Amino acid sequence: MGTRLLAIDPRQPAADLLAEAARIVKDGGLVAFPTETVYGLGADALNGSAVRSIFEAKGRPADNPLIVHIASMDDLLKVSLPTQAQQSALERLAEEFWPGPLTVVLPKNDAVPKEVTAGLNTVAVRMPAHPVALGLIAAVGRPIAAPSANRSGRPSPTEASHVKGDLDGRIPLILDGGPTEVGLESTVLDLTATPPLIHRPGSVTVEQIRHTLQTAVAIAPYVFDGGAGEEVKGVPLSPGIKYEHYAPRTRCILVDGPFDSVMTLLRERIADESKKGKRVGLLLTDEGAKVLKGRGNALCVSGSRGEPAEIARHIYRCLRNLDEADLDIIYIEGIAATGVGAAVMNRLSRAAGHRILRAPTL
Ligand code: TXA
Ligand code: MG
Repeated sequence: MGTRLLAIDPRQPAADLLAEAARIVKDGGLVAFPTETVYGLGADALNGSAVRSIFEAKGRPADNPLIVHIASMDDLLKVSLPTQAQQSALERLAEEFWPGPLTVVLPKNDAVPKEVTAGLNTVAVRMPAHPVALGLIAAVGRPIAAPSANRSGRPSPTEASHVKGDLDGRIPLILDGGPTEVGLESTVLDLTATPPLIHRPGSVTVEQIRHTLQTAVAIAPYVFDGGAGEEVKGVPLSPGIKYEHYAPRTRCILVDGPFDSVMTLLRERIADESKKGKRVGLLLTDEGAKVLKGRGNALCVSGSRGEPAEIARHIYRCLRNLDEADLDIIYIEGIAATGVGAAVMNRLSRAAGHRILRAPTL
């Protein structure tokens, strides 16, 4: 199968291009499209066999459920059956964060095929804040099930070229709307749990959700440290947690701690590795890159430490680029795990396979 890359205006997508992509989805095919978070690989959410082909194209384990993307609140009732309490929580959240990078887990209805939810009786739903995604869903006239458009286990794609690199020859069409804005996958919030439970941190933060709901919000214990995780009061783990590694092929080590101490440790490590003849890659912030200027064999700079949202936008691109630089090891500078930084550190920790070096507090 030849994979076509079709450029599309991310702000005002042309109706004929959306119609062409919608035709493929209506016929049970797959289309990769940009959202504000990362690129998604979409199929008709109400067509079980179309959804099955997503799993084949990605090499995704069948027990890892997908997010259903909607374009209107009416679409929500095509896939879910919220209780009154869930409905009112959802309305507050939607008012504040939709369209946007927040996914909510609700009881599913009978229209949703088991392929989407991996047999769970809940469904994950979000309304993406991207004209191409919204336009495509509207043109199809049905919700679209879409995971991130990477090969299973690879970092999520933030540019169409990443999708092409991972899925070339496996899908018919990629809509290229340029680099994505947020750069990290959506926050996943389970409204069927009491209190609501964050399965995956994202750019919508726990503080924002607590403020909007005016209730307690639990955070799955594996979220920040990426540890193995355990059952939270009878609520099962989000299935994706055990699979998603967001990992480059090159071994990565995350170095966390006070900035000056991290820099000292990195200087030593880079010198040691180089002495052993190893090729070292660095994923650093602006500030880190200034301090470590000229060291290592390859560098990708993610953004300023004071701007975790900027760092979020660049980490997957950096991980992919460094992975192509023929390196023996990649050292990653950690940032403060607060606000959006919590989501960044969650992904970096996974990219490093939870190999974390703690630089001492000086
Ligand atoms: O930003 C995003 O969320 C992107 C874009 C394309 O929308 N999508 C994305 O999908 O990251 P994916 O499939 O890579 O991640 C979906 C996550 C997985 O961790 C999965 O386990 C979880 O959502 N999930 C899906 N349905 C669930 C459910 N019913 N209960 C708990 N977790 C669920
Ligand atoms: Mg994914």
